[in-house]
Amino acid sequence: MKINQRPLSGGILLLFLIMGFATAQPAGFDENTDGIHAGVMSCYGSTCHGRQESTGVVVLQNEIQIWQDETTVAGAHVRAYKILFDDRSQAIAEKMNIDAAHTAPECLSCHSDPVPASLRGPQFQISDGIGCEACHGASGGWLTSHYAEGATHAENISNGLYPTEDPLARADLCLSCHLGSSREDQFVSHRLMAAGHPRMSFELDLFTALQAHHLEDYDYEERKGLQGGARVWAIGQAKALQNQLDLFGNSDHARDGLFPELIFYDCFACHREISDDPNWRPVVRENPLRPDIRGVPKFNDAHMIMLSIAASSLSDEARQSVDAQTFAFHRALETGIGVDEEITAYMALSARLIRQFQRKQFTRSDYLSMIRNTLSRSTAAAYTDYQTTEQVVMAVDTLLNAMVVSGMTTRQAVSIMREDLEIAYDAVLDPNDYDQDQLIAALDRIAASLETI
Ligand code: HEC
Ligand code: HEC
Ligand code: HEC
Ligand code: HEC
Repeated sequence: MKINQRPLSGGILLLFLIMGFATAQPAGFDENTDGIHAGVMSCYGSTCHGRQESTGVVVLQNEIQIWQDETTVAGAHVRAYKILFDDRSQAIAEKMNIDAAHTAPECLSCHSDPVPASLRGPQFQISDGIGCEACHGASGGWLTSHYAEGATHAENISNGLYPTEDPLARADLCLSCHLGSSREDQFVSHRLMAAGHPRMSFELDLFTALQAHHLEDYDYEERKGLQGGARVWAIGQAKALQNQLDLFGNSDHARDGLFPELIFYDCFACHREISDDPNWRPVVRENPLRPDIRGVPKFNDAHMIMLSIAASSLSDEARQSVDAQTFAFHRALETGIGVDEEITAYMALSARLIRQFQRKQFTRSDYLSMIRNTLSRSTAAAYTDYQTTEQVVMAVDTLLNAMVVSGMTTRQAVSIMREDLEIAYDAVLDPNDYDQDQLIAALDRIAASLETI
């Protein structure tokens, strides 16, 4: 039983990011009750966000143009609604036995800005897809005041603008769709994937860059401060883990009939071949972060492994506590004893780490040691599952890119890693063909090149 799914999202663009350019609802549209969604039309205007070209003064002003260019990855959010009309979406809806995809709440929850009718302004259109206010919050309270002379960012926030610049708030926002939330319709279950929905993978820093319609220049820094790639990456991993554990432990999405919801586990714990050929190499490999128990589906621990690497920038103890907690969590799942306690403990540990990431200044040597840790053979022993390796390739790409952007190294120095990064990328391109040895060999070579940057 193989999985026929779209390969790693972002695809070639990952490499593009490091080689080419380097610019650097509210958890599901929480209604701010007096918050009317005025609609994208309200943001148009040549003195507002509807310019054809960037002015470079304060904000770009051509945000709408970037957001609506469906031919680029930055235009994904406008495409999200249109995609609901295609054959693939209609087939998914049919299999799920729900309304046509473009009218079904089960799809609109993530493929549009589905505010209730009472909160839609006269220019609001559902066909705008994931419009500005799906991320920046209902503009009812700040549309007319946010550009006034003397208006401050803090005032705008208190009027209902969502703090998308804050890594933790941004993570929660993006994950509400890119991982799912506890809201009834905002979740991609295993059933939905079996009906044809693509797998989802998300990394906050890289995906922010891929959909960027802003510039983190001097003026931006003055207004909002710069967060830097490593902090956004680390907080993104910790928050993804928290939301995943919360959905798994505390939400209505935790179970599906008699079974646990399968989406929380490694896909290849179940989706693999069976053979009695003596030369056949078993898929199951030893993984130092898990008790060595066979025949039990393994929890998808990609974010736990990334969090461990991020924690290594704080201290050896921080990293060890993440690894010990990961092991204890797997153990609890396999014995069925103490699962809730381990979830609670992991949530608390991630919260502590988030607070430390928020305060930490990531230095060049922090970056280098996190990348080295990602590439090291001892960490790579835990890369037994395809989903983890997606995060690995994205982590190396996004951290190297951040080093270039912040002037810690040059694009030229990093370019020698291109070929091996492509090979690493290749090793994770097709989920059905994931080769841990090929990946590790490529990571070894990237590690060697890293010593020269
Ligand atoms: C929890 C949020 C969520 C829900 C609910 C959801 N989707 Fe998606 N969908 C996504 C995300 C996020 C992606 C992009 C995945 C990626 O590339 O990482 C996506 C991608 C897709 C794609 C592929 C788009 C492309 O450009 O290749 C299709 C088709 C799709 N969804 C259809 C549907 C349909 C039909 C429904 C309702 C039955 C639905 N989705 C429900 C979040 C969701
Ligand atoms: C998928 C979520 C999302 C959507 C949709 C979205 N934005 Fe953004 N926007 C962001 C993020 C994230 C940032 C960067 C962080 C920040 O500074 O807030 C940003 C930054 C901006 C900035 C720069 C702010 C500054 O201080 O320099 C402007 C202006 C902006 N967006 C306008 C828009 C407009 C107009 C639309 C609709 C056409 C839109 N955005 C749609 C997430 C989104
Ligand atoms: C309302 C739900 C929603 C929110 C909130 C959201 N996204 Fe998305 N995003 C989607 C859907 C659905 C798609 C898939 C669209 C498609 O491919 O047709 C998508 C696609 C993308 C893509 C393109 C991925 C690819 O494989 O091509 C990027 C990059 C992205 N989102 C980044 C972000 C970031 C960063 C945030 C937070 C600032 C965010 N998104 C918030 C729903 C959302
Ligand atoms: C605990 C075991 C288990 C896990 C974990 C699991 N699946 Fe499945 N999956 C199944 C079974 C069993 C079926 C077939 C059910 C049926 O007969 O309809 C299935 C069916 C599917 C199908 C439909 C195609 C087919 O072969 O029938 C897709 C696509 C799919 N799974 C994707 C995934 C993805 C993606 C993941 C990881 C995010 C995943 N599965 C995790 C057991 C699992």
